[in-house]
Amino acid sequence: MESAIPDHLVTTRTRHRRVPDDYAPPYPSYVARSATSVRQVVMAYLGLQHDGDDPPPGLLAPIDAALAAADGPGHHDRARGDGETVSIAYWDDPEQFDRWWDAHRDSWLGDGVRDGNGRWAEVLRPTVEEHETLFSSTGRPEGVAVLAEGLSGEVQEHGYWGGMRDRIPLSQTDAMAPVGEPVVERDGGRVRVRPQHAACLIRSGQDWTDTDGAERVMYLEEVEPVLRAGMDFLRDEGSAVGCRTNRYLTVVEDARPVDRTFGMSWWRSLDALERWSESHPTHVAIFGAAMRYLTTTGPSARLRLYHEVSVAAADEQYFEYVDCRPGTGLSGNG
Ligand code: HEM
Repeated sequence: MESAIPDHLVTTRTRHRRVPDDYAPPYPSYVARSATSVRQVVMAYLGLQHDGDDPPPGLLAPIDAALAAADGPGHHDRARGDGETVSIAYWDDPEQFDRWWDAHRDSWLGDGVRDGNGRWAEVLRPTVEEHETLFSSTGRPEGVAVLAEGLSGEVQEHGYWGGMRDRIPLSQTDAMAPVGEPVVERDGGRVRVRPQHAACLIRSGQDWTDTDGAERVMYLEEVEPVLRAGMDFLRDEGSAVGCRTNRYLTVVEDARPVDRTFGMSWWRSLDALERWSESHPTHVAIFGAAMRYLTTTGPSARLRLYHEVSVAAADEQYFEYVDCRPGTGLSGNG
């Protein structure tokens, strides 16, 4: 059993873990292990708004070209939902990202490409102390974990409320409390947001590709509708619980949806995300069902779950929206 916190990020604690040293989780889970040379990653969510499910032909060509260009991301994927197609790109070298952004920002957000379709960028660059990952199975990394050297062995800090916090190295010494509020700055159809300190982003994914028979029916008929209700709640009423925006997206490959989804949401604080996950009836229900399922199936579970959670300082976040619908992301309703 390993700690989720890699050796090189272990520091003298001023804050305790939620569990005793001899805690044993009820089922196995794993975390991404990056090279020790990696100090900071960049996660860029680049959105295009359109009518219907599919984006108009050609509108993704500029971003596809940019993603394939020099200094492009080490990994990217694409997903859609609620009239948006989102390209999600990951770098493990912020300087490389900066060069890429300087070269390609205008092809996505510049005045020259404004055509009435909303476009946006939500970018964060957490240090390795400021983020964590969790995988219920090995063999198919997603998101930032694709950039890592590999997955860990079984880790200890999971299977209990507070495990997410305990996996973030910064939690050894810092409460990660939020400071301030985001400030929306509007210039016609262009909106920038001045970030708050310690905003929290979660990407929480589900992959039911490998399920069949009763397991697939169970996921699609019993779990997914509850997940969707939770995602709708966060999208429509999340502000009451500290969720600033939520998207429930389906991964697309070769422009077709596949059996993988994820929720992606920005929170006022890690604390607010913890409170929602441990108290909202939708997540409590799917958490309990998944705990029972994973405890029974162990490593042979065919439903795969993963997430990545970051808590970033104000200067590690960037939000820009161009001609977007009211209420997009953190852009406000005005
Ligand atoms: C943790 C189930 C979707 C937020 C967990 C855990 C399970 C679970 C079993 C515990 C993991 C561990 O520590 O071993 C599920 C299932 C989902 C789902 C079955 C969908 C089918 C989501 C979504 C979000 C979310 C979409 C947020 C937008 C969280 C958070 C934790 C968590 C924040 C960490 C709680 C903590 O450690 O304090 N979930 N989840 N989950 N989930 Fe989910």
